[in-house]
Amino acid sequence: MISEPTPTAAAPRRGEPLPAQLLDEAERMTREEVRDLQLRRLRATLRHAYDNVELYRKKFDGAGVRPEDCRTLEDLARFPFTTKADLRDTYPFGMFAVPMADVRRVHASSGTTGRPTVVGYTERDLSNWADLVARSIRAAGGRPGHKVHVSYGYGLFTGGLGAHYGAERAGCTVIPASGGMTARQVQIIQDFRPEIIMVTPSYMLTLLDEFERQGVDPRSTSLRVGIFGAEPWTEEMRREIEDRMDIHAVDIYGLSEVMGPGVAQECVETKDGLHVWEDHFYPEVVDPLTDEVMADGDSGELVFTTLTKEALPVVRYRTRDLTRLLPGTARPGFRRIEKITGRCDDMIILRGVNVFPSQIEEIVLRTPGVAPHFQIRLTRRGRMDHMTVLVEARPDAAPAQREAAALAVARGVKDGVGVSVEVTVVDPETLERSVGKLRRVKDLRED
Ligand code: DLL
Repeated sequence: MISEPTPTAAAPRRGEPLPAQLLDEAERMTREEVRDLQLRRLRATLRHAYDNVELYRKKFDGAGVRPEDCRTLEDLARFPFTTKADLRDTYPFGMFAVPMADVRRVHASSGTTGRPTVVGYTERDLSNWADLVARSIRAAGGRPGHKVHVSYGYGLFTGGLGAHYGAERAGCTVIPASGGMTARQVQIIQDFRPEIIMVTPSYMLTLLDEFERQGVDPRSTSLRVGIFGAEPWTEEMRREIEDRMDIHAVDIYGLSEVMGPGVAQECVETKDGLHVWEDHFYPEVVDPLTDEVMADGDSGELVFTTLTKEALPVVRYRTRDLTRLLPGTARPGFRRIEKITGRCDDMIILRGVNVFPSQIEEIVLRTPGVAPHFQIRLTRRGRMDHMTVLVEARPDAAPAQREAAALAVARGVKDGVGVSVEVTVVDPETLERSVGKLRRVKDLRED
């Protein structure tokens, strides 16, 4: 028999704020204190990068800046950006700033083309990472004694191991399920009774369908909190998951080049965007076309500088993720990023109109009669680009409702996004399911 959670391990059904004694010291700092800490750490990082990484030395010299030129946080804008291409060009370990003997672990992200990018961690980097994921889990409502089911993939991807060590650090019991073997995952959740699940939102939908297929009401499970990230997802998706599962669905953000999961986290009591853990990362938002730093509140591309990383410090790393910076709420010393709705590189330009898959997601999830499973196909007809949205019918949808849903999605896209697309409602369970990060767009255009 597996015993029920003890009262101290009860998950916050109402999304209660974290008791003050569970806040890290940095989470209690004022904005001024955070900025002071950031400047000190930033100057040390620039010095460390310049002294130990040839690429940074060349870039800083080329731009005519020296680490000591950074006297205020705003001076960082004078320093050059770093991109994924820099990591690729120095593959595999050329941007490491410590001797290889001090690198305790590497991860890699496959990317869609070319070589993977490789990232490294010293012992202290791994410890900081575990601390920050633990902090993220607490902000999401996790407490010591909770069981955490980790369905992010284990391996070179940072999701599985990042979540794993963070959950251990938070005093939780980890169930290292990794991705795949969906039927077995559902069985394990039924038997082990975790309070928390960490998984991509698209794989959560796959798991939800599997619960229903096995005749289990997803609202009856032990799960109370889902910590979802690694891919964009919308408020409509949050509502869909929360309604079907009776859990709090909160957002976790990160990227391997900067650390992995746990760079920013949504607090369960406010669910109003993700607080950036600014004691370890300095965020900027820049105009993706002019590279100018934008004021807080204005949307653009998110850029990060690490403040404590030893093995792989990154200076002004261009994430390609689009968002804006907002003042802190539940953690007033840290700024928030708005939920990330897309990347510069997922944007589809269809006959001159910018379209993000997340806009299609919002419309599909608002439409009765269709399931939250859809795929975008791009083709070329003559000289014109053409977009087809394939959407799955809900199993109980009658033919007339399917037709009405196709019209409603097409009208929603025309009115909301401003382009005409073809919408085909397909039979239930015919579209590819996610087992990790989902690729929503199939580009069948020939160049
Ligand atoms: O996806 C790290 C991660 C693992 C984050 C598990 C959260 C949970 P990469 O494989 O390097 O690292 O991919 C990073 O994924 O630049 C975003 O485009 C996207 N991404 C990550 N989290 C979110 C999120 C991990 N919460 C890239 N919302 C990032 C939207 C996200 N996009």
